[in-house]
Amino acid sequence: MADLCPVEKNKEYIMSVTDIGNDGEGIGHIEGFAVFVKDALPGEKIRVKITKANKKLAYGRLMEIIEHSEYRTEPECPVFKRCGGCSLQHLSYEAQLDFKTKKVKDALMRIGGFKNPQVKDAFGMDKPYFYRNKAQFPVRKGNQGVDIGFYAKRSHDIVNIDSCMIQNSINDKVIKIVREYITEENIEPYDEISGKGLIRHIVTRIGHVTGEVIVCIVVNGSSIPKKNKLVEKLLCIDGIKGILLNVNKKNTNVILSDITKVLWGRDYIIDYIGDIKFQISINSFYQVNPVQTNFLYSRAMELAGLTGNENVLDIYCGIGTISLFLARKAKKVIGVEIVEKAIEDAKRNAKLNNINNAEFIAGPAEKIISEVYSNGFMADVVIVDPPRKGCDINVINTIIEMMPKRVVYVSCDPSTLARDLKILSDNGYSIGEAEPVDQFCHTTHVETVVLMSRVQK
Ligand SMILES: C[S@@+](CC[C@H](N)C(=O)[O-])C[C@H]1O[C@@H](n2cnc3c(N)ncnc32)[C@H](O)[C@@H]1O
Repeated sequence: MADLCPVEKNKEYIMSVTDIGNDGEGIGHIEGFAVFVKDALPGEKIRVKITKANKKLAYGRLMEIIEHSEYRTEPECPVFKRCGGCSLQHLSYEAQLDFKTKKVKDALMRIGGFKNPQVKDAFGMDKPYFYRNKAQFPVRKGNQGVDIGFYAKRSHDIVNIDSCMIQNSINDKVIKIVREYITEENIEPYDEISGKGLIRHIVTRIGHVTGEVIVCIVVNGSSIPKKNKLVEKLLCIDGIKGILLNVNKKNTNVILSDITKVLWGRDYIIDYIGDIKFQISINSFYQVNPVQTNFLYSRAMELAGLTGNENVLDIYCGIGTISLFLARKAKKVIGVEIVEKAIEDAKRNAKLNNINNAEFIAGPAEKIISEVYSNGFMADVVIVDPPRKGCDINVINTIIEMMPKRVVYVSCDPSTLARDLKILSDNGYSIGEAEPVDQFCHTTHVETVVLMSRVQK
């Protein structure tokens, strides 16, 4: 190992930082060996103390910044250093966007094998704060009362907060009320190690256009004490439409179970993207940044190039957001999604908007798409918007067999995007300009939309 690893634990080195890792760490090289250092930024020369090293890479602690990056900024959030929610608030927003553009381009070159991929500058927000419409706050017993906040970086310790710079500020009130209720009623918060304690998480959803709010308390039990007291307190939240209890008794990192009870009101919010109205349940996927989503979907719509005569397949459709966006300009749209509740929402959303040419099917895309194809549905345009792991290979293979004119790929992970585009490109599709959209400001994540056009039969 000594031959392979040129750095030693507890020793200090001088290093230049050249890149940013997935968790926002600065990455540099010592004798060609990669070293990851939290809080360091590209363009900086630093003194680093090695804290951990293995055969492939090392981690170090930032001891001193010898030369500062011109893009280093003072984070707006007072708990940025400890909290695992954001990872780039110490980098100017312009530099964050440049990093995301580069991240997409690098992945397309390195993983996709594209020689000179065209990538637009990442599309950012005018005001990249308070943008999220969904919050999930873990609740734990703290040293001085109840801790409600976010997990610390690379840990399940809670960073206790009253407010968050990327969440809707309505959440500040929700946190305050639930904290008061837990304290006054002397309720035991959940303990991950023993699996004991009642209150695990607070989950909220807030409509960007409508201002509608639902608050869901996730419990390791079937009920909560003094339910009416909590409901009464939460009713003073502006826009409150539902107060829910999610029953999750499993010792798991999955936040919500399938069992949700309504304590008051209804179990969904209504919101709009463009002029389309959506009903959104607590469990369904819904893009977290409504302002950027509007732009993202408009780009997807434009790239789809619909004239009104096309059959469209929307794979990984969630609650039918993109499907319904496109349906007005298509002959027919079929949306496929694995979460049944989301498909129920999608069907309801079609009715809500008087859209009659959209059909939704619940099930794993890898199975459903080949059935749809065998039943004779030939898509002219396919939209895919998979989770981070990208498209299942059976989905890609069926798309290739189906030979749609255009495939619009919406992705939240440049690596799997590049992997999948390479397969399409090897099978008769040419890549268009990739368009990164900053859906997740102050984190390292980036959304991208790319058009693949069929060039041969
Ligand atoms: C990134 S989201 C996109 C949702 C939707 N297009 C939108 O913009 O709101 C990915 C969706 O894929 C769904 N999904 C995950 N695995 C799936 C599978 N094997 N088959 C079908 N859908 C799946 C998830 O439940 C989620 O709704």
